[in-house]
Amino acid sequence: METLELTGKVHDEIRQGEAFAPFIVEPNIYKKKFYIESYGCAMNFADSEIVASILSNEGFGATKNFEEADLVLVNTCSIREKAEATVRKRLTEFKKAKLAKRGMLVGVLGCMAERLKGKLLEEEKLVDLVIGPDAYRTLPALIKDAESGQKGVNVLLSREETYGDISPIRLDSNGVTSFVSIMRGCNNMCSFCVVPFTRGRERSRDAFSIINECQELFDNGYREVTLLGQNVDSYYWVDEEKDIIVTFAKLLEMVANVSPLLRVRFSTSHPKDITDEVLYTMAKYENICKYIHLPVQSGNTRVLQLMNRTYTREWYMAKVDRIKEIMPECGITADIIAGFCTETEEEHQDTLSIMEYSKYDMSYMFFYSERPGTLAARRFTDDVPLQVKKRRLDEIVKLQNKLSQKSYLGDIGKTFKVLIEGNSKKSENDWAGKTSQNKVVVFPKRDYNLNKGDYVNVKVNSSTGATLLADIVE
Ligand code: 5AD
Ligand code: SF4
Repeated sequence: METLELTGKVHDEIRQGEAFAPFIVEPNIYKKKFYIESYGCAMNFADSEIVASILSNEGFGATKNFEEADLVLVNTCSIREKAEATVRKRLTEFKKAKLAKRGMLVGVLGCMAERLKGKLLEEEKLVDLVIGPDAYRTLPALIKDAESGQKGVNVLLSREETYGDISPIRLDSNGVTSFVSIMRGCNNMCSFCVVPFTRGRERSRDAFSIINECQELFDNGYREVTLLGQNVDSYYWVDEEKDIIVTFAKLLEMVANVSPLLRVRFSTSHPKDITDEVLYTMAKYENICKYIHLPVQSGNTRVLQLMNRTYTREWYMAKVDRIKEIMPECGITADIIAGFCTETEEEHQDTLSIMEYSKYDMSYMFFYSERPGTLAARRFTDDVPLQVKKRRLDEIVKLQNKLSQKSYLGDIGKTFKVLIEGNSKKSENDWAGKTSQNKVVVFPKRDYNLNKGDYVNVKVNSSTGATLLADIVE
């Protein structure tokens, strides 16, 4: 479930966003300061905004400078070993800062908190607080415990918690696009994945609280929401009193109806669960973006079976066909794992050929990293040598670069409606935005009186491989 636009790059790097908070309007009204850093998937970034909201009710204001914070929080990711290693390194830095500032508390949130539980607190003495993804409401009480020298730990998972009633405080926001969490947890048990263990069982958030949040965002000038969940297609919410059942397709429709000016995206879809109903809903509404992130993981049926993905190569290919049939202009991207347990060279070739077949615009590509406690760690041997994994990954990355280039070059001469997200990174004279297909477009502002959050039609004249360069059309 990751949302970085790193076309052609090995995305084994976790997104290292310090989630800065622009909401410190009157710093003096806050008694204390917190600093939060988020790693991993978009869900973690959305969770940090819930945490910010809980903390602000407790009199904490955000700071961008961890050295002056009373409370330093790291929202962590366990998906691959490297992700955990990066966080551990960061925690030792915070431990030093703690020595320099009396009373500073350091806390670990998210998947590493859940996976390692008291270990960080007791054995390694790196932190004062350890709080799992379903326990953020107890943060204020745990802070008080930690302040009085007790251990602040809560890693209980819940079957109900969705934080549906908490209005997130937007951190590090461009004011135009936002994540909206629609469900938590995952019931899929892909054999390589630690998420079902760290984030617990799947549960869907109250549909009306989702609509309210989207409406509020729209009223505050936001023009795009990305509905987030580990497996959005299995969203299912029942209001027994009103006798209403909301499926993911229905939810998409409800969000699309907030305003035609509000773009809707979603992430992540599981190929086995995305239905025709969802595809037809996407096709029906112009403001539902024509873009699907459809992780394939492997192109070989035997490996997919070992991964417990519950679809075959042919099923996945038929899904790609169906998407293109219903929405010929739809962009598709994927997650791919190289060198899963027992994968042979021929099976790796199947991954390369399914990439060619699917013509991905972009992919997040990883080599397999065994995670303790997962089904694969218990059942299979991680027997593909690291060098072989890396070589296969390299072949996958090279092919993806070729496919991305082809896809981006194919857009030259076409006109796209772009939502302006802000200045381009390189120049204040250029705007940057995205097409419905989620491709970044940069174009000169010229004399047009446009602002971020506006829509504009642009014609693509060239491409750098990961960005389209365009000009406004009248
Ligand atoms: N090793 C490598 N990649 C993994 N992913 C999940 N677990 C692992 C693992 N153990 C990848 C999958 C998933 C993405 C979020 O991370 O491709 O879709
Ligand atoms: Fe992990 Fe599979 Fe669930 Fe995604 S769908 S979070 S890969 S178990």
